[in-house]
Amino acid sequence: METIRFDIEHIQKFVTKKEMEQQTKAALKARETLLSGQGKGNDFLGWVDLPAKTSAKMMKNLREDVDRLASISQYVVVVGIGGSYLGARAVIDALEYKYLNNTGFPQVLYAGHTLDEDYYAWLLNKINTADYSVVVISKSGTTTEPAVAFRMLKRHLEKKYGKSGAAQRIVAITDKSRGALKTIADQEGYPAYVIPDNVGGRFSVLTPVGLLPIALAGYDISALLRGARNMRKICIEANTIQANPALLYAVVRNALYNKGKKVEMMVNFTPVLRTFSEWWKQLYGESEGKEGKGLLPHSLSFTTDLHSMGQYVQEGERLMFETVMSVKKSNYRASIPNDKQNLDGLNYLLDKNLTEINHCAEQGTVLAHEKGGVPVLRLELPKVNEEILGQMIYMFEFACGVSGYMLDVNPFDQPGVEAYKKNMFALLGKPGYKL
Ligand code: PA5
Repeated sequence: METIRFDIEHIQKFVTKKEMEQQTKAALKARETLLSGQGKGNDFLGWVDLPAKTSAKMMKNLREDVDRLASISQYVVVVGIGGSYLGARAVIDALEYKYLNNTGFPQVLYAGHTLDEDYYAWLLNKINTADYSVVVISKSGTTTEPAVAFRMLKRHLEKKYGKSGAAQRIVAITDKSRGALKTIADQEGYPAYVIPDNVGGRFSVLTPVGLLPIALAGYDISALLRGARNMRKICIEANTIQANPALLYAVVRNALYNKGKKVEMMVNFTPVLRTFSEWWKQLYGESEGKEGKGLLPHSLSFTTDLHSMGQYVQEGERLMFETVMSVKKSNYRASIPNDKQNLDGLNYLLDKNLTEINHCAEQGTVLAHEKGGVPVLRLELPKVNEEILGQMIYMFEFACGVSGYMLDVNPFDQPGVEAYKKNMFALLGKPGYKL
């Protein structure tokens, strides 16, 4: 089995052996707390066992819905925000270049992740003359952004296909018994999937929340779950930081945080992983950013951002470390053409493929940043595919639980998210709200 692994060579001069040992003890204790179910937020630990417990019946239902919707849809609009959006999009975007001819599947579009009016004008214009379906995802069933988007899309679908035709094209993913979306789905007879009570939004990518959109986009959710399952075993059973990437990650980020590195920058050298960083940002930002604590998760795409943010990273305030997602093998080759004139001076690269050049850019960057005072943790991915993404998702989730407990916060709630909503409701005149 090909497995992701961390390389800690470029953080070593920033933390002592003793600090690593102290954090390792704390991480092992935090893992014990997590697995014993005795820690803060312990009613939201359903994600720990998800990949091992996915039922054959649910997988069959998912496959049937994928076949049905794919056969009648040019587009599928996935409606959701935050944890009900980012995981699916992270995987779908990451696999964008893997299959060059992924025919027979609808194109996935998104809604409910923004309130921008022009976006909806663009979206409705795009789907107006095309066949499409909607997957609406909201655990609470009451979140304003997806509720607004779904109301518009439901009306559009009903006008286009009639009420019963629309009902054939809508799938709801929501709580098993509560919330407006559940009531609408029951009333209109939409097929529905349940988000388990004990799985919070940002930990829900391996439930139908992520699995249905990913499968609709044409990707292999069995391989995704297999990767997560294999990583779960490692995270739960391996007792050393050398053998357990989740423990190692939690140890390194806490050791660096304690040394004043308050910002973690998730870096990719392939644009397809950009949305994966967005998913990771929500996972860690929402889980750890509380009680005046927590590393600020930030992200950069290199080499693109070396030409915009590179200056700051190299010489700005020394408040950050980097976690670099380093992809070993590309799926395809693109060679550099020979040019007799060699006016651009690139003929010295003719014996190299682009991946080798990208790796040299990465190596050069890592060495420069380390020298400039930025610790660099490298996460090596053998390649980008469903199985590796499944490993990454589970590893980051597990490490997040461990790291949150090391920080002594509840990693599974998000009380701060309510503040903007209350103000927005007051400003919109919703009954019962005041500024
Ligand atoms: O992680 C979380 O809990 C949040 O990001 C939610 O997923 C997000 O606010 C959407 O909530 P809901 O699925 O209830 O519409």
